[in-house]
This record gives sequence, C-alpha cells and structure tokens, in this order.
Amino acid sequence: MLHLRGISSVVLEKRSRDYVERRVRAGVLEQGTVDTLVAAGVGERMLREGLPHHGIELRYGGQGHRIAFDKLVPGRAITVYGQQEVVKDLIAARLAAGGDVRFEVEDVAVHALEPEPYLTFGGERLDCDVIAGCDGFHGVSRPSIPEGVLSVFEREYPFAWLGILARVAPSSDELIYARNERGFALHSMRSPSVSRFYLQVPADAELGEWPDERIWAELKARLETVPGFELTTGEITERGITPMRAFVAEPMQYGRLYLAGDAAHIVPPTGAKGLNLAVADVRVLTEALDAYFTGGSDELLQGYSQACLKRVWRAQHFSWWMTTLLHTFEEDDPYARRLQLSYLDYVTSSEAAATTLAENYVGLP
Ligand code: DHB
Repeated sequence: MLHLRGISSVVLEKRSRDYVERRVRAGVLEQGTVDTLVAAGVGERMLREGLPHHGIELRYGGQGHRIAFDKLVPGRAITVYGQQEVVKDLIAARLAAGGDVRFEVEDVAVHALEPEPYLTFGGERLDCDVIAGCDGFHGVSRPSIPEGVLSVFEREYPFAWLGILARVAPSSDELIYARNERGFALHSMRSPSVSRFYLQVPADAELGEWPDERIWAELKARLETVPGFELTTGEITERGITPMRAFVAEPMQYGRLYLAGDAAHIVPPTGAKGLNLAVADVRVLTEALDAYFTGGSDELLQGYSQACLKRVWRAQHFSWWMTTLLHTFEEDDPYARRLQLSYLDYVTSSEAAATTLAENYVGLP
C-alpha cells in the first residue's frame, strides 16, 4: 500500500521467511479486508483459492441455526483464506516489486522521538520518517514506549483453544460454532480437502494431553449433536494451543511510532477479528501517511489512534460477546447457563439480533 503511493519502506522481520509463511493462524477475511487486498494488488490468489461464505451455523441444544449473511446483510460476505497464505502473497508481491524485506533481523530497538526517529538492529542504524510497529503482541515496539504513556485494558479468559488442521474434506459447507456443555467447538476449513477445528480446553492444557484419538472423540462429542451430522476424521497435520485474552493499549502512537495490529490490541479468537483489525489499522495508517508525505498534513497522523480505536473497541465487544455466548464458564451457575441459552435463542430467532451478529461478523464499514 505504501509502495503504490510512492512511499519507500524497509520491513524488519525477526523470523525467517519460511517460519512466517508456515505459521498457521486464523483464516476468516472480512469483506473490507478482501477489498483492501484486492485494491493493493495482492488479491489475485485469494480471489481464486479463497472460499466465499454467506452464512455460519450456530449449533446448540440439539439443533443447528443458520445466520444468513445473504439475507441479513445483503452483498456482504466473508472469505475463508488462511492468514499465512495472505502473508505469502504479501511477501511475494513486495519482493517482486524490489522491496526491502529483511528476515531474521536480530536485536531491533525502536527510537521513536522526533526530530530523528530511527531503528537499530544487528549493529546497523536506520533513520526513518515514521516507524510502523506491526510486530505483534510480543514485539519490541510497544515496550519501547516509556512507562506512563500507555493505558492498558485487559482480560484473561479461564480457557484456551486447541486448534488443529486436518487433511480431510470439511464435514459441513459452512462454519459451525457449537455451544456444548463439554465446551465450545468450532468447525472451520481451509480448502475442499483441508479442515480446521478448535476445541475449548482448560487454560493450562498441554498438547501432550491431547492425542489424536482424544481430539477427534471430543470434536465428535461436541459437534455430532444434530440428527444426521457425522464428522469425518483424517490425518492431523498441525496443532497448537492459543490462550484466550483481550488487550488494548491506548493511544496506539508515540512520537513517530504508530502501533498496528496485535502490537496494540488482542481479541479472543471467537469471531476471527484479529487479522481483520490489523488490516483496518494499516488502511488508516496508509491514508494518514499519504496525506503527510504528499500534502504535508499531520492531521490524520495525529488522529490515527483515535480513528483506529473506535473499530478496535467495537471488535473487542463483539469478540467478548461471541466468546461469552458460546463457551462454557466453570464459574457459571445454572442461572447463568439459562441466560446464555436464552440469548442464543434470541440471536437465532430474532432478525434484529441475528443482524447484530451478522453485521459485526462480516465487518462494519
Ligand atoms: C477460524 C478462526 C476463528 O477464530 C473463527 O472465529 C472462525 C474461523 C479459522 O481459523 O478458520
């Protein structure tokens, strides 16, 4: 996006190209994310291989209920396309354009203050006009901001997600979000021959406790809850445990450092907002940088954080809402469980409530 506007950049990446291209993450792209990738000239393979989805299923109480995007939010859909595929496409495009992408860069330090922001790494110094901190929750950008500048808002959930990738055709055409007394389960996919699943597990769960047979038995117990549905199993090719937490640091900027994506905020994964928020941030940042470099106006850069945080907090609320709607909380008493089921009944029977889910899921403008 910077390249298309004639703004030069250097990308510093701690990991190897191979590592970032293989790291399996989420895979649901909002319409706005799809549009952004296409406009940036990196959407060709996504449009060819991505799977457009016009609805999802909420499964609970022995029944499936479709949330129909095509009816509730006409013209808007999501596309299932793995995050690491997006990463591959971005790296390929950048390198093809002669871009400066450096992998396995060690000891990056951020110096964000004017008049001369700069980065140091591996004995080198790089002077910059602007630094974009797109280095994730554990990156160096956010901690480089002096103490007392940021306000932090966070919440930890008392469970995690065990995610697997399996070489097996999806057992359903659409994603299934299943609420079950045994815990939440999600049936997703990556292609006509690769399925993706998640299971709610205790926060301290370890992969060693989850041999293949246990994973499939648990997925079956949580998903085979409606008449006629059978889960097809296959070879598990990748597995990992994701902690569930929410985090926001405000403001998302300091001096000439602008934080984007997980460097500034984390959402629990239910609803798949993480990658989409990151793309929304860089869309705002690109416009602000364009105004700054071509028009000499600082105004959009000054307002960067405020512009992003509106969407960030909407996504925080939506992700919290989807998480609490669908997971089993040990501390919940029978009354709380009845409330949860009542809310699910409302979302699946009221067009107004279903539209609330649908418009947030496909992504707000
Ligand atoms: C996927 C991940 C999510 O968090 C979600 O809500 C839906 C799908 C996925 O990885 O496919």
